[in-house]
Amino acid sequence: MRNERGSFGSRLGIVLATAGSAVGLGNVWRFPYMAGENGGAAFILIYLACILMLGIPGMLCEFVVGRHAQSNAARAYDRLSRNHSWKLVGYLGILTSTIILGFYAVVAGWCLQYLYASFSGHITGDAEAVKAYFVAFSSHPLKPVLWGVGFIMLTHLVVVRGVRGGIERASKLLMPVLLLLLVVIVVASCMLPGAIEGVRFLLMPDFSKLTSKVWLEALGQAFFSLSLGTACLCTYASYFSKATNLMQAAAQIALLDTLIAILAGLMIFPAAASVGVSADAGPSLIFITLPNVFQQAFSAMPVAGYVIGVMFYALLVFAALTSTISMHEIGTAFFSEEFRLTRDKAVWIITGVASVICAFCALSVGANTDLMLMGHSLMDFCDHLTADFMLPLGSMLTCLFVGWYVPRQVVRSEFTNNDTIGGALFSLFLFFVRYVCPVCIALIFFHQLGVI
Ligand code: TRP
Repeated sequence: MRNERGSFGSRLGIVLATAGSAVGLGNVWRFPYMAGENGGAAFILIYLACILMLGIPGMLCEFVVGRHAQSNAARAYDRLSRNHSWKLVGYLGILTSTIILGFYAVVAGWCLQYLYASFSGHITGDAEAVKAYFVAFSSHPLKPVLWGVGFIMLTHLVVVRGVRGGIERASKLLMPVLLLLLVVIVVASCMLPGAIEGVRFLLMPDFSKLTSKVWLEALGQAFFSLSLGTACLCTYASYFSKATNLMQAAAQIALLDTLIAILAGLMIFPAAASVGVSADAGPSLIFITLPNVFQQAFSAMPVAGYVIGVMFYALLVFAALTSTISMHEIGTAFFSEEFRLTRDKAVWIITGVASVICAFCALSVGANTDLMLMGHSLMDFCDHLTADFMLPLGSMLTCLFVGWYVPRQVVRSEFTNNDTIGGALFSLFLFFVRYVCPVCIALIFFHQLGVI
């Protein structure tokens, strides 16, 4: 069995596992608070443009590299060109995804703790009490670390079972449940009195909030949400079958991911509006604001409030798990293939490194607020470093690689499955990958750095 490559077993498995990677806390936690802080619908419009113009072509590039090379991220970039420096893009991806796994697990750990606490009825009382609960929990010196590392262990248990038996099976089970829970909560939230204000906030653009910073944040959010720029999709694509229509898969996954982000907004903002909570509460929105919202909104039916609360945190845990699995898999595939380790050993390396990052990040927003880097808590620093810097960089380099360095024939044959499916969009794709994507990403990037 040693080093025998896994693969996904069915078309549905491919779409669900990859969508499982894309759909995560990025959609349900990060997207709503980003939209809330950056003007609601106006942010969403830019976000959609980023997904369509930069996200889908970027995703296709990773698919092309991954499926053609059929190997882990670093070797994939190496195999497709004669210049060995491209391997560095693969290394960058592996590093980025391990850092993301570290800080992402902190929030995922909070979700796990909140699932437990809402299930056992601990999060009750007035607004002050709910806030105090969050502050007490997150600043505890041990609890957030244990829940975060526990979440990484949970991920470990799935990843160690391999591509088909672990990742694909978990995604096929978790994704439909997630969608169902989401729809139930959206309906409940939109039926509350006064909910329409929240819907309006999400759907009516207020362009006065559009600053140049919003562009970078929308771009970072789009890449983060699609799991782009870390070779994560490249690794997953190496498990795709040769018959997969890459263009179709990319479109389906981007659509599903965007739909779920908007649904998450429709779950959160109407409920918040209904009880008069402001939309720009920031990262603590789902931990401080929402438990209140559930209680107040359903004060006439406390049981419904309880059930919705538990369902909500279960949803977050499921969404986070299918994503952490994908971040873990990038490094695991790399170590098992490049160092000829068994999968059981390779998983431990990533689990160990990510757990250390996770522990420091968890402390930096809790018990040890002096763990700071460049004026941010370690956690915020990792978040911004990856989403606003490493992901766009990784993605831009991948576009340049596929657009200019990989032989055109290789790209074409992957795009069209050896000329068996329509190649009409191929020239358009190549145009985007060569010019539009790198230039747009570079412009936003350098503008943010103050260079232009
Ligand atoms: N896309 C996931 C989310 O929205 C997060 C994620 C999973 C990710 N794998 C990634 C982000 C790789 C960047 C890179 O929550």
